[in-house]
Amino acid sequence: MEPDKEERSRVLVIGGTGHIGKHIVAASVRHGHSTSVLVRDAAPPDPAKAQLLTSFVDSGVALIKGDLFNHESLVKAIKSTDIVISAVGPRQLAEQTRIVTAIKEAGNVKRFLPSEFGSDVERVHTVDPVASLYAGKVNLRRLIEAEGIPHTYVCCNGFAETYLPSIGDVTAVGSGPPSDKIIVLGDGDTKGKLASFSLYSKSALSSMSACMSVTCCIDPGLILDACSGICGGRGHSSLHDTSD
Ligand SMILES: NC(=O)c1ccc[n+]([C@@H]2O[C@H](COP(=O)([O-])OP(=O)(O)OC[C@H]3O[C@@H](n4cnc5c(N)ncnc54)[C@H](OP(=O)(O)O)[C@@H]3O)[C@@H](O)[C@H]2O)c1
Repeated sequence: MEPDKEERSRVLVIGGTGHIGKHIVAASVRHGHSTSVLVRDAAPPDPAKAQLLTSFVDSGVALIKGDLFNHESLVKAIKSTDIVISAVGPRQLAEQTRIVTAIKEAGNVKRFLPSEFGSDVERVHTVDPVASLYAGKVNLRRLIEAEGIPHTYVCCNGFAETYLPSIGDVTAVGSGPPSDKIIVLGDGDTKGKLASFSLYSKSALSSMSACMSVTCCIDPGLILDACSGICGGRGHSSLHDTSD
């Protein structure tokens, strides 16, 4: 579902070449937003990444060269956008304080979505290595709030596409099914919920009522709807929005 013309925004995605970020970029374009992606290398040696960037450009996405560690590049990119969506990976979560600093300096951002896209980090009990990861996300929330930046936290639980191939073993994500042993964290009796990216995106996009009742965060397009204040998260997934 496309937003009306007046609801279209200028969206900057930081981490747009990542596992989650590339879906957010595609959805932003699909929803008619003027979309740019901060890229560290506009001509990467990795053919798959190069092809992804070509597909971005072909679909009208502007590539802006920059880096989390280059403050000037961040401020420049942020100054030409309304909404900043960070989809940087687990290793860069702490560095998002640099995005917060740049947003404050730029002074024009209407909404910031930090890299969340998982469980609601303040409502789940976890053990390491996940606990440390979540603590970083909580710390960033406090900083964003202290700085008074309008924000939305998108919480969608785990993606089945991420966790099922490793049969839920968080230490083996990305490397396929464990061949001889599975590491079970905690007491092994914890119940969890997984979200299916494709299944929910299909139903959620089919109508606004699906968007309202299922979740705003399974499909990245709906994340953008949330930026525009079109829908609020309901159901088992949640979306924290400063306009609440
Ligand atoms: N709910 C779930 O099941 C689930 C699953 C996975 C992830 N997540 C969450 O989703 C979020 C994104 O994770 P991901 O796995 O999609 O991340 P990812 O695949 O590791 O992607 C990282 C992105 O950050 C960019 N990046 C790295 N260093 C950078 C720097 N110095 N400056 C600018 N950009 C930089 C990378 O760009 P390059 O192309 O230049 O490397 C890439 O686009 C995280 O918050 C993660 O916790 C949730």
